[in-house]
Amino acid sequence: MTTADSAAAKDWPGVRLHVVTGKGGTGKTTVAGALALALAGRGASRRRASGPARTPRVLLVEVEGRQGLAQLFDSPPLPYEERRVATVPGGGEVWALAIDPEQALLEYLDMFYKLGAAAKALKRFGAIDFATTVAPGIRDVLLTGKTCEAVRRRAREEGRTFHYDAVVMDAPPTGRITRFLNVNSEVSGLARVGPIHNQAEAVMRVLTSAQTAVHFATLLEEMPVQETLDGIKDLRAAGLPVGGIMVNQARDVVLTDAQLKRAATEGVDRVELSAGLAEVNLDRPPIVDALSALATEHAQRVLLELDQRESLSDCDAPIYELPLLNEGVDRVGLDRLATSLRDQGAA
Ligand SMILES: Nc1ncnc2c1ncn2[C@@H]1O[C@H](COP(=O)(O)OP(=O)(O)O)[C@@H](O)[C@H]1O
Ligand SMILES: [Mg+2]
Repeated sequence: MTTADSAAAKDWPGVRLHVVTGKGGTGKTTVAGALALALAGRGASRRRASGPARTPRVLLVEVEGRQGLAQLFDSPPLPYEERRVATVPGGGEVWALAIDPEQALLEYLDMFYKLGAAAKALKRFGAIDFATTVAPGIRDVLLTGKTCEAVRRRAREEGRTFHYDAVVMDAPPTGRITRFLNVNSEVSGLARVGPIHNQAEAVMRVLTSAQTAVHFATLLEEMPVQETLDGIKDLRAAGLPVGGIMVNQARDVVLTDAQLKRAATEGVDRVELSAGLAEVNLDRPPIVDALSALATEHAQRVLLELDQRESLSDCDAPIYELPLLNEGVDRVGLDRLATSLRDQGAA
């Protein structure tokens, strides 16, 4: 590999834009953060082997204005400005940007129409508010446009082609992702020539290319899994590149299939359980009952999770598992998730 792709993911070698979607609450923001850290950690071993070279630089973008990234990295709220939020061993850097559609529109007007002062006047008259809040399509054009600008931005320094080796987007939820990513194809159809048409086409070129992968964060529960399956179908129908499935908060299965089935239907062996409890002087019926009920509940849940895992494996996308962090999601936890993603080849 050349230095130009030292932050390329093993399973996603040509990908420079990783979009992370998923049902709300399943861990989009957490997974996006872990993936960014994992990508920033790429190339460290190669660098050691081949002497000093540039370190990977990864940008995390947030498009829903919730300051979730600032919270995740325990930093003050992010302004509309790229800020470094983490460094990893080996020197790789994670930067973050909360894209504000209003600021992005001003930037856009200035870029295409040199509207500097006029754009500020538009803002005073509320035209910007109108465009960014009343017309959701325009909002999405701006958010995807700014993201793709970061993906394509050229480096000013020697030894680097692009300013960012990879961009990771904490994207809108599964139900809206296809429409969100596809919005520019509607725009380029509406504006058939001119700068807006060209810009929309350039964005779609990035989003539909092998440079982009859309990953799905999910839990092993019925609703998020169903949304993932539907989302993958929708994306494929729209010609957008499906990435991997990131099963979040995964638990190791410690019981065999036979043990699980038995515990789920008949409960556990009460004689054996009582004998075990007798050794620690706890073999009282209410304790046996409570533990037995817990075991049944656990086994039933694990069996449901196994079913969900099987449904996911039908849709022909690589599956990665991120462990449940019992201590909560702090930087140590995020690093654990990042290592796990790298060990599985996602980065
Ligand atoms: N692997 C994990 N282990 C433990 N808690 C997690 C894990 N992933 C996410 N969480 C927690 O679950 C909640 C939802 O995660 P978040 O990333 O904010 O989801 P989303 O962005 O999809 O709404 C947060 O409180 C987060 O800290
Ligand atoms: Mg979030």
